Amino acid sequence: MSSTEMSKGPSSSNVTIISIDFTTTDSCVSNHDNVEQKEDDELVDKLAATINGGLVSLSLAIGHKLGLFDLLVQETSEFNRKTAQQLADAAGLRERYVREWLRSMVAYGLVECDEGTSVYWLPESRRTAVNSTVFARFIPLLAGVIDDVASCFDRNGPSGVAHDRFGEFNALSSEIASFTAPSLVEELSRVKVLNEKLSRGAVCLEIGCNGGHLTAALASTYVNSAFVGLDSSTDAICGARAAHVDLPNLGFLVGCAGSLPDNWANRFDIVIACDVIHELAQPARALSEVLRTLKPNGLFSMIEPKSYGSPKRDREEFGCEASAGLYVTSLLHCLPVAMTEDDDSAFGSMWGAVRAKNLLLDCGFCDIQTAALTDSSFVHFSCRKAVKLM
Ligand SMILES: C[S@@+](CC[C@H](N)C(=O)[O-])C[C@H]1O[C@@H](n2cnc3c(N)ncnc32)[C@H](O)[C@@H]1O
Repeated sequence: MSSTEMSKGPSSSNVTIISIDFTTTDSCVSNHDNVEQKEDDELVDKLAATINGGLVSLSLAIGHKLGLFDLLVQETSEFNRKTAQQLADAAGLRERYVREWLRSMVAYGLVECDEGTSVYWLPESRRTAVNSTVFARFIPLLAGVIDDVASCFDRNGPSGVAHDRFGEFNALSSEIASFTAPSLVEELSRVKVLNEKLSRGAVCLEIGCNGGHLTAALASTYVNSAFVGLDSSTDAICGARAAHVDLPNLGFLVGCAGSLPDNWANRFDIVIACDVIHELAQPARALSEVLRTLKPNGLFSMIEPKSYGSPKRDREEFGCEASAGLYVTSLLHCLPVAMTEDDDSAFGSMWGAVRAKNLLLDCGFCDIQTAALTDSSFVHFSCRKAVKLM
């Protein structure tokens, strides 16, 4: 801890914190030592900011889970300030906790407060930004599996962690997909070959569809096409069926991407896999099933996280926090759900576009095209099942 950190530390009335000045004028301290010291200080600050950010994320997660952000958006503004009691009553919650939560958000700079009259409000200019607080909900879910993942590091421990240990992870992903699906469809409609097939009328399968929001958004845009969404999670498919009852060109099925029904050979014009392949226990097997079920000349549309497969390169391109966040999500979720078989072959979500392309080639796909999706952190791969010449 540096001398400045010590003087910033906690204090109470009967404890005197002495700040010691370690600054030296000794000429033997080289410029190199000064540079190293500066880097060290900066790293200490960066770590402190990250750890505090983790704590703030937990408060964001609670606020989102309890609907407190929605309440602030709906009930408050610069001209309509509310006490913690009024907000707690509107939410049916206990005032003391709501107040402490509000104070944490005021300290963070998201919520405003008049300390004289104890009223709180969310400025209009911050209303859109609070939508992103939904992502904070993943933090406690991932923290909840820390022990499970730690036991996978043990050579004699389990190789992976079952999906159901992640609680509402899939439900939350589905909630997010419900508002990102329309813009993803817009992006996919710019992939010429896909748009042409879908507009003409195609039979399509989406594997790993979760709550079915992408399939449903495609089905309502491309009414000449027919869609089946498939997922291994019964809960996901029940949710998908309940959420999308009104589309006649859409159905959902529980099933495993690695063993699709025997009578599905040569059945689909298009198969879609969005953010799925890297989290399968046997991705190559699923890809060979995709190939089997596609019609000759059929199109496989695969969406995977944007990554160079190199943490250094990803950090340079996407920034330190964003890329580290993706690698940590891979460590805590994508890798352990894929490592159900003890063979260390799971990819993790940051496997990179080059490996992905090579795998598609190895599995027998041709005409592979890649395009970065501009509105998201994903890359789209389109490829074809070759027509066999007799
Ligand atoms: C990260 S989610 C992506 C969901 C959705 N495609 C999206 O983009 O929002 C991965 C999905 O794959 C499903 N899944 C995992 N293994 C599967 C398998 N072997 N067969 C089919 N679905 C699987 C999971 O249940 C989950 O819904």
